[in-house]
Amino acid sequence: MTEKKEFGQFFTSKKIAEFMTKWVLLGNPKQVLDPAVGEGIFLKLIHQLSPATQLQACEIDPKMVQRFRNNNSYQVKLYEGDYLFTKVQHKPDAIICNPPYLRFQKIDRRKEILQNLKNMTGFSFSGYTNAAAMFLVKCLYELKSGGRSAFIIPYEFLNAGYGKCVKEYLLKEKALAKIILFDSKVNVFEDALTTSCILLMEKGCCDIVEFCNLHSVEDLTDVSLLNKKRSYQYTDLDCNAKWLNYFTGHQESGRHLIPMKDYVDVKRGIATGCNSYFTLSRAQVDELQLTEQVLHPCIVKAPDITTGILTKHELERMENSNKKMFLFDGKQATTKEELQYLKKGEESGVPQAYLTSHRHPWYSLEKTPAAPILFSVFSRNHMKIIRNETQARHLTSFHGIYLREPNDTKENANLLYCYLITPLAQRILHQSHREYANGLDKFEPGDLQNAQILDLSLIEDKDRKEIEQIYLEMRRRQIERAKIKGEMEYLEKLEEIFQKYLE
Ligand SMILES: C[S@@+](CC[C@H](N)C(=O)[O-])C[C@H]1O[C@@H](n2cnc3c(N)ncnc32)[C@H](O)[C@@H]1O
Repeated sequence: MTEKKEFGQFFTSKKIAEFMTKWVLLGNPKQVLDPAVGEGIFLKLIHQLSPATQLQACEIDPKMVQRFRNNNSYQVKLYEGDYLFTKVQHKPDAIICNPPYLRFQKIDRRKEILQNLKNMTGFSFSGYTNAAAMFLVKCLYELKSGGRSAFIIPYEFLNAGYGKCVKEYLLKEKALAKIILFDSKVNVFEDALTTSCILLMEKGCCDIVEFCNLHSVEDLTDVSLLNKKRSYQYTDLDCNAKWLNYFTGHQESGRHLIPMKDYVDVKRGIATGCNSYFTLSRAQVDELQLTEQVLHPCIVKAPDITTGILTKHELERMENSNKKMFLFDGKQATTKEELQYLKKGEESGVPQAYLTSHRHPWYSLEKTPAAPILFSVFSRNHMKIIRNETQARHLTSFHGIYLREPNDTKENANLLYCYLITPLAQRILHQSHREYANGLDKFEPGDLQNAQILDLSLIEDKDRKEIEQIYLEMRRRQIERAKIKGEMEYLEKLEEIFQKYLE
C-alpha cells in the first residue's frame, strides 16, 4: 500500500492553509499544535506570521518526518508516531489540522482509541468513527479553554450515524463557531475525490453555529467576509438530524430535481424464504444434475458483485468462482433429479419456513424481473449501485430500479447509472435514507421513490453522447480488468456534466 493510502495523505493548498492559519492566529496563541503535520504547510505559515509562537507537531510516517525536517528549519517539538496515542507535553492554545482520511476499518487499535476517547471525554463514540473525527475529538479535548482550532475534514460526519456523538461533543465543549462547506464539485485536494468542510472552533466560547457554503476555494477570503448562509443557536441544533440540511434549511431541492418515482419504479428483491435451499453454485447444480430450465441467474449478496457494471463476463466469472448465483425455480421441475431436489427440500423442512409456508406451492418464486439498475439496500458512506446488463434477478440485498416507459431504453439506463454513481447524486440521495445501526444507511423502496434526482430529460444530446462514451469506456476497462485507475477521473467528468444542470 502506498503511504498516501496507508496514512491518508492529502495536502492542503496554500489558499486554504492561509485561511485556517488566520483563524487560529486571531486568538494570539502561544502554543500551536499540528497533529498530522505532513510537510508542514500550516506551521510554516504560522512561523512566518508569528515567529514567537511555539510549535508542536506529530507525524506517523517516517518518510514524511524526513520531508518535514528537510522543508522546515524553525524550532518545533516533533512527536514521531501515532497522534491518537501521543501525549502532548504542552497543552496547546491553538490546533490546526488536516487529519488523515481513513475509514474506521483502516485504523489500528481502534477499540483502544475509542476507549481512550471515552475516558477523556465521557462520550462513547461509535465504532464507525473515522480517523478524521477521532483526531477532531482528541484535539478538542486537548485544546485549552478559550483556544482556537481550524480543521479541514470530509463532511460526511455531519450526516452519518457515527457523527451524532461527534457533533454532541463539539456542542458540549461550546467549541463550534462555523462550518464552511465546499460544494461537492469543488476540488479541494488535487488528487482526492472527497467532500470537504472547514470547521472553525473556539473552545468554551460559542453558542451559535454559522453554516456557510462555498462554490470555489477562491471564495475563501477573510472569515468576516464569508457569505453566511444560516446560523443556528446551539439549543436549536439536533445532533440526530442530518446537518447538511442546515445549510439549506430544508431538504435539498433545486430547479432541476424531481422525485425518482417520476422516472422509475423501485422494487424489492426476491425473498426466497430459504436462500440455502433456493440458491445454488455451479458445483451444486452439477452435482444435483439440475437443468437450465429450473435455474435463473441471480445476485444473492451485494458483496458478490465487485464491479459497477454487471455484464455476462462478470456473471461467468461469478459462476467459475463457484458463487451461489443460480435461483432454483421448482415450478419448472420435470426431470427425475429436479423432482428429487424438491423432495429433498420437503424432507429438510423448507416448506415450513415462514415465507414458504405462505406460498402455494411452497417452492413458487416471486416474479420480480431482472432490473437494469440495482441499488444496495444497506450502505456505509457510499451507496452501491450496479448497472445490470444481464438477466440476473436480484434477491433482497438489492432494490431493483426499473425505468418507466417511454424512458425504458438501454441508453437511459446507462445515463441514470452514470448519474447515480456521482458524489453529487449520492449526496442528494443521502438525504432520503434511514439511519440504521451505527452509521449503516438503509433505503426502503419508498425512500428511494421519494428521493430527489436530477431531471434526466433535461440532458442535452451532446452531453448524453459524452456520458454514453464514458459509460462504454468504464465498461471496456472493467471487462479487460484494467486497473480502475481512471475511475476517479470518470467520476469527475460525469460530475462536471451533471453539475451544470443543477446550477
Ligand atoms: C491529510 S495529511 C495532511 C498533511 C498536512 N498537514 C497538510 O495539511 O498538508 C495527514 C498527515 O497525517 C499523517 N498521519 C496519518 N495518520 C497519523 C497518525 N495516526 N498520527 C499522526 N500523523 C498521522 C499522514 O502521514 C499525513 O502526513
